[in-house]
Amino acid sequence: MSAPVGLATATGSSYAALLGVGAYRPVRLVPNSELVEAIDSSDEWIQQRSGIKTRRFAGPDESVQMMSVAAAREALEHAGIEAGQVDAVIVATVSHMMQTPAIAPAIAHELGCGQPVAFDISAACAGFCHGVGLAADMVRGGSARHVLVIGVERLTDILDRTDRGTAFIFADGAGAVVVGPSETPGIGPVVWGSDGEQFDYIRQTEDWRDVMTSDSPVMPALTMQGSAVFRWASFAMAKVGLEAVERAGITVDDLDCFVPHQANMRITDAMARSMKLPATVRIARDVADQGNTSAASVPLALHRMVQEGDARSGDVALLIAFGAGLAYAAQVVVVP
Ligand code: COA
Repeated sequence: MSAPVGLATATGSSYAALLGVGAYRPVRLVPNSELVEAIDSSDEWIQQRSGIKTRRFAGPDESVQMMSVAAAREALEHAGIEAGQVDAVIVATVSHMMQTPAIAPAIAHELGCGQPVAFDISAACAGFCHGVGLAADMVRGGSARHVLVIGVERLTDILDRTDRGTAFIFADGAGAVVVGPSETPGIGPVVWGSDGEQFDYIRQTEDWRDVMTSDSPVMPALTMQGSAVFRWASFAMAKVGLEAVERAGITVDDLDCFVPHQANMRITDAMARSMKLPATVRIARDVADQGNTSAASVPLALHRMVQEGDARSGDVALLIAFGAGLAYAAQVVVVP
């Protein structure tokens, strides 16, 4: 069918890349010893089952917005981009505790970005890699030039400190990247999807309407079928990671770094084995100190690798994130 008039089409940059990365880690460090009594556990059990030694819990002043702004400022500085040059802000989170409006416009305003397109996405632990996938397509499609992608969580607001399956896993923090135009390919094709048949694996205990009609309303907490999630993540996600590597036109031998969602050290190890990653690939292990920060975990882990020299500018890294939904997304990127 021919159009009655020729519509103009937006065209962007041939390639997109990560230009900078930033992070905010809450001040308060919480060792396993502080949590074990409420869940009848031990430091040894937690370390052996999850690899987690400490995590960070946000204080009253460390809000979703405050942590996001701090992480974003560092990412902008690393990228050498002014806030005014950002024309899109994507915030991945499940712990901005207001149904509407999204937190992204408030973050963009505080940063001084002017009036960029700004919205939140809800893809739980997979949210950051969804954001990077969207941002890369926006830059290449011409709907934005510089996109700030933030992954942020204050999961302690929705954590049941007495739940043995989640209380020691989840934590707080924020990570951010700037995605922008590039003369060479910097972000490979995203491999993403969802398995709604497993919608119940990780979820909030109750719908808000049920909470509010109850005689004694309690904040609905995160709940998880730990073993089922463990099996899914360890096996199905390795295939997704390998597909992202293949779609990027490389092999695992070309990878310098592996930055998986920091869910659990055993899941990371199982994925690395299953993908047959060469011993030379440096693997992010931020979960040991930071816990599982859901949407913030991949940028926090990448940031740490960059800071500690385990990921150098120009290195090729596989990012993969997965979680509630069940949702997942993976892409190969060049480290900024
Ligand atoms: N401390 C001590 N013991 C615990 C415990 C805790 N916090 N939670 C469970 N246990 C005990 C159980 O009582 C059970 O004891 P039993 O064998 O005597 O009956 C045993 O440990 C096994 O319980 P199970 O629930 O099967 O635990 P698990 O081995 O699956 O380990 C997780 C629990 C949460 C560590 C594990 O399922 C896991 O890592 N899942 C994935 C979590 C994750 O990464 N989620 C994020 C994805 S985004």
